[in-house]
Amino acid sequence: MKDIYILAVESSCDETSIAIVKNGRDVIGLEVNTQMDTHALYGGVVPEIASRMHTESITLVLDSLLKKTQFNLNNIDAIAVTYAPGLLGSLLVGVEFAKTLSYIYNKPLIKVNHMVGHIYANNIEDHLEFPLLAMVVSGGHTELVEMTGDYEFNLLGATLDDAIGEAYDKVAKVLNVPYPGGPNVERLARNGNTCYDLGKPVNDGSLNFSYSGLKSSVINLVHNYKQRGEEVNVNDLAASFQYAAVDEIKRKVEIALNQNNYKMIVLAGGVSANEYLRTEIGKLAAKKGIRLVVPRMVYCTDNAAMIGAAAYPLFLKNKNIVDYSLNAKSHISTVE
Ligand code: KG4
Ligand code: ZN
Repeated sequence: MKDIYILAVESSCDETSIAIVKNGRDVIGLEVNTQMDTHALYGGVVPEIASRMHTESITLVLDSLLKKTQFNLNNIDAIAVTYAPGLLGSLLVGVEFAKTLSYIYNKPLIKVNHMVGHIYANNIEDHLEFPLLAMVVSGGHTELVEMTGDYEFNLLGATLDDAIGEAYDKVAKVLNVPYPGGPNVERLARNGNTCYDLGKPVNDGSLNFSYSGLKSSVINLVHNYKQRGEEVNVNDLAASFQYAAVDEIKRKVEIALNQNNYKMIVLAGGVSANEYLRTEIGKLAAKKGIRLVVPRMVYCTDNAAMIGAAAYPLFLKNKNIVDYSLNAKSHISTVE
């Protein structure tokens, strides 16, 4: 079969990224321009600054990729782009850029769901084998998804309130930990003991998640200590929070694993960079005798290689091929 080369564009949040991916698995080149240092000055991503920075850098990112790979864009088979979910202004920069390339080079344009991209990042590491269980954990999503084949999704459960990454980021704020919150809370937790009781989420027997109660417990505990004029141990509180947050994932993944015979588990989304989560889900997988696949760090955080990986089965199935009326969308689920 002929090799398929996809140029993929990702700009949903604060990373401008472009990649060339061969046959959905072989990353020929990947450029990621992160704006993290700029947003750190404000304690979080400022949407207006993010879209402006994407506009400034996206052409330079492509130029750098083409110089490094020496790839001729006439040899591309399709242009893929993240159209949702994310910050609208940021997404639109990538979407319009991809439309322009598709128009100039007369190549098909493929729209890709960012969250599905996070799942397909695992196909760069290892062949996805179905049926599989995907645990999607990011700043906006906490979803347990079953896949019975390429682009065949069943949503088993989702958060009823906050996403796990959002909880990490809010806890970081109340602990006065600088942006990006998740990795910094994880770092504190490494030196802490799980001695604070933050309560347990209501167990309704479903595969849905809840993080607002846990988040509020942390906020209330910090306020109570402050009012009493006592110092909270930041490392211990981070460790106690992380234990509870990951325990919620473990409980639901274990229920799902007992309901079906999955060939593998994959982790997807920014929070999958968390070592503690990776280790704990690894233990569950080992107990069940199935494989856990987790993307390496560069493919865990936002990147265009995962978008190229997710676009490949769409190209083969002739799905999600869109015209120049494509618009961006800020909120969608993994399974839409
Ligand atoms: O997938 P992602 O880059 O953006 C979204 O699509 O949301 O995920 C970002 C989220 C943030 O909430 C960030 O705090 C969290 O992932 N995150 C982590 C870690 N690294 C990133 N959370 C916990 N531990 C980490 N090591
Ligand atoms: Zn992401």
